[in-house]
Formats: sequence, structure tokens, C-alpha cells
Amino acid sequence: MKRLFFLDFVLLLGLILLILVLELPSVVESGSHDYQDALTKSILFFEGQRSGRLPQDQRLNWRADSGLGDGSANGVDLTGGYYDAGDNVKFGFPMAFTTTMLAWSLIEFGDLMPPSELRNALVATRWATDYLLKTISQPNRIFVQVGDPIKDHNCWERPEDMDTVRTVYTVDAPNPASDVAGETAAALSASSMAFRSSDPGYAETLLRTAIRVFEYADNYRGAYSDNADVKDGACPFYCDFDGYQASHLPITCTFLHTFESLCFDELLWGAAWLRRASQNDSYLSYIQNNGKTLGADDNINEFGWDNKHAGLNVLVSKEYLEGSIYSLESYKVSADSFMCTLIPESSSSHIEYTPGGLIYKPGGSNMQHVTSIAFLLLVYANYLSRTSQTVNCGSIRVGAASLHQQAKKQVDYILGDNPMGMSYMVGYGDKYPQRIHHRGSSIPSIKDHPQFIACKEGAVYVNSSNPNPNTLVGAVVGGPGEDDVYEDDRADFRKSEPTTYINAPLVGVLAYFVANPNLNP
Ligand SMILES: *[C@@H]1O[C@H](CO)[C@@H](O)[C@H](O)[C@H]1NC(C)=O
Ligand SMILES: *[C@@H]1O[C@H](CO)[C@@H](O)[C@H](O)[C@H]1NC(C)=O
Repeated sequence: MKRLFFLDFVLLLGLILLILVLELPSVVESGSHDYQDALTKSILFFEGQRSGRLPQDQRLNWRADSGLGDGSANGVDLTGGYYDAGDNVKFGFPMAFTTTMLAWSLIEFGDLMPPSELRNALVATRWATDYLLKTISQPNRIFVQVGDPIKDHNCWERPEDMDTVRTVYTVDAPNPASDVAGETAAALSASSMAFRSSDPGYAETLLRTAIRVFEYADNYRGAYSDNADVKDGACPFYCDFDGYQASHLPITCTFLHTFESLCFDELLWGAAWLRRASQNDSYLSYIQNNGKTLGADDNINEFGWDNKHAGLNVLVSKEYLEGSIYSLESYKVSADSFMCTLIPESSSSHIEYTPGGLIYKPGGSNMQHVTSIAFLLLVYANYLSRTSQTVNCGSIRVGAASLHQQAKKQVDYILGDNPMGMSYMVGYGDKYPQRIHHRGSSIPSIKDHPQFIACKEGAVYVNSSNPNPNTLVGAVVGGPGEDDVYEDDRADFRKSEPTTYINAPLVGVLAYFVANPNLNP
């Protein structure tokens, strides 16, 4: 009798264990993450992307000076700024967007950062704003890019060895550059707010310059990539496709008149940032009066370097929520409808998720969408909770806590809670990408190997199956495919290339989770 009972007990125990095992989620949960470590690294990454003369306190010390002659052929100093990804070109459009997002991270979440990281984030922002100021130092002219991207991409060279032609791409009035100039106005306005307490004089310079570059953007309306002198440089890399991925037809402003309003999202975006930074009513009127003609109501659920709609709606909603300015209600309606696409319980059509739960949009460099959407979720949640408001998703109302949860799922996926059980941030956790598509990281450092490595001599490094010799700490790669699979293949740039605009919004997201690591589900 006793023995039988014991056997039953063992069987029952086995059954319970089996159920427990079957119930285990397929995603590896590693418990709480070290958000502070991730925050530190996400900012450190920007040091690896630096162009120009590096300072004494450079921490990623496998890098050295580069691009010291940038602009000299045109008699202008265009040294500094960031290489935007794994190549050695300085594209003004995504660099300005990166700057806006670093500054927005500081504005919303800077007070949650440890003081040392707040300082590092300001330094990272200033590395970009100092450069952006150079690009608009001459009246009625904007230097939109440095470096011939075709020649650059045909080489696999360290930035320190770079000997490809550093063409300066310039737009002069009356040629339009509403996208680059509008984004530059946004970047400088947002940065002026970020620097207001630590360096008021610099903040004033940024704001004054933003006002001027916005006038350029607004006076000569159109896309910079439609300019014949610039097209070959910007396209197909950073043409303003405005949400249309490279796999789609490149619809630029002039090709399709019906899409004209799509080209001007940076005008509203720049004006919205100028309004927030200056509190000047003329920019409020601009947003109120031009919203319709410039496409604010189009309900385009995109946010990235080439499309500002969802970010614009969130940004302007703050003013509607806090100031009760009724004429801005459509921005809140659009922001709500964007948030509803991210809430599984809502009845609206949803954004695509991988089986492992990652936001997924086709076209490569998917993590840029993940980090920028996670950022908007947190910012909107803050605006809503401060004003005791909710998201209206038709049949249901969604509160700030739910938006926080959605953002946390995305950042935890990036840091390792995913089917591959790996971190997509280089240098964070035990398992992370080893073969990122990045010239500087994959070629021996100039410090270890001072001999020049020419354009085609880099082929042995790009083709090698070895891990990269230099750890680009904090770099977040394009990330896994629709199936959550990541091969860690250097040649697959859509997955293995980091970019500055993946990291910039993540800085703010991580700061939020440093302060709020344990959200209740
Ligand atoms: C507000 O901005 C407009 C446009 O830049 C400018 O003309 C005006 O002087 C500004 N007003 C104030 C009070 O600064
Ligand atoms: C090495 O990479 C280059 C591209 O950079 C490619 O064209 C070439 O075929 C590769 N060579 C080998 C031996 O795999």
C-alpha cells in the first residue's frame, strides 16, 4: 500500500514537471536586465562612429583621427560628425535625425540618467550639433553630405585609412532641401533644450541657427534628393523616400504630385520642435495652419530618418494634452491610432511582430523601427500619465502602463529575451553579434596594425569568418529576420550593420528603464 502510494506520488510529480516544462515559454527569459550597463554602452557606441580629431578622453581607443581634410577642397571645415553606420560617409539627413533623437532622449529622460551618463549623452549630442552647425555656416547654403558613397562602398577600409574622394554635396538656394533643412532645424531646436541648463550660451546659438535653417526649409519646398547635384550621392542610400522602403518604387516629391504632402513632414516636425524650444506662437500657428496641406492627417504609422509622422503626432500631442489647444486634437487622434496598432488587445489593424515578439518591418535594419517605436511608446505614456489621459482604441481605452509594458518587451528582446537567447547589443551580455558589418570594427585597429590597409586589401577582413577584432561596444545591429533568426554574418548588412539612428532613441528608452526596471505586468 505504502509503496503504491509512493509510486503514485512519483508519477504525479513527473506529470507536474512535464506540464511545467511544456508551459515554459519558448523565449529565454533572463530575469531583469542591467539597464544601466546597457545605457552606458548605448552611448559609448557613438565614440566608435566619430569622425574628425578625437579628444584625449576618447574611450573606444581602437579608433583614431579620420576625415581631417573633410571640406577642405571646398574651402570649408566639415570635420567632425558621425559615420552613420558601417561605412565612412557622413550623410547629413540621418545624422540630423540621430541628433534629434539623442536630444529628445535627453529632454524626456535625461533626469533619470546617472550624472556621468547624462554628461556622456550631452557629449555625444554635441559631437553631432557642432558638425551640423558647420553644415549651415554659410548663408543660403547647406552641406548635406561628405564622401562619395559609391566609391566608399566599393572599399573596405578603416576610417583612419580612408582615401576615397570626399565629395562635398551642397544645396544652394533656391534649390530645395526641406527634408534635410527641416530635420536640421528639429535637431538644433531639440538640442537647444537639452543644453539649456548646462550651457545656455550654446543653447542660444543652436536655437538661433535652427530658426534660420527652418526658413531655408520652408522658403524652398522640396526634397534634397531631387536635386541633380545631390541625387547621385544621397540615393539610393538616404533619398527621402518618405516611408517607402528601398524595395518599393522610390517615390520622391516630384515624381508623383499626389504624394507631394508626404515630402514635407520635416517642415511640420521642424516647426513643432521650434515651437517647443522657443514657445514662439508663430510656430504654433504654422502647425495649426499647415497640418492639412503638409500631410499631418495622413495617419502614416511610420517614424524613422525618412518619415516623421508618428513622432510628430506624439510631439504635438503634448501641447494638446497640456495646453488643451483644441485645434491640435487631430494630432492626438493620430497618435492614439498609432499606439493602437501596437496594442494586441485593440481591434485596429496591428503592426507585424515576429513569433518571438519583436516589432518587425521589412526592408532591413529592423531595429531602427523597434527602438524608435519603443521610444514613442514611453514618451506618449509619460504625456498621458501626467495629464491623466488614456489612448482611445475604439472599443477599449489603453493606459500608460500598457504602453510601458509594450516598450519593455521590445527592449528586453534586444537585450537577450528572444528565441536566439542573444543580446543584439555588441558587448552586452554573454552572447552578442561578433561579425558586425562595420569597416572599423572588422579590420585590425590602426593601433595594433599601423600599416596602411588599402581599399581592396580590406577584402580579407570582410570575407573572414573570424569575429571582428575591435569590439564596437554598444552597437545595436539591424537584428534578426521575420523568423527571429540571426546568422551573425558580416555580409548580411540588413541584419548585421549598426546605425546611429538605431541607438539614438534607445538611449532614452534605457534611461527610462534604469529608473523603472520592474514594471508590473
Ligand atoms: C517668433 O518667430 C517669428 C518667426 O521666426 C519671428 O518673426 C518673431 O519675431 C518671433 N517672435 C518672438 C517674440 O520672438
Ligand atoms: C571578398 O569580398 C569581396 C567583396 O568585398 C568579393 O567581391 C570577393 O569575391 C570576396 N573574395 C573571396 C575570396 O571570397
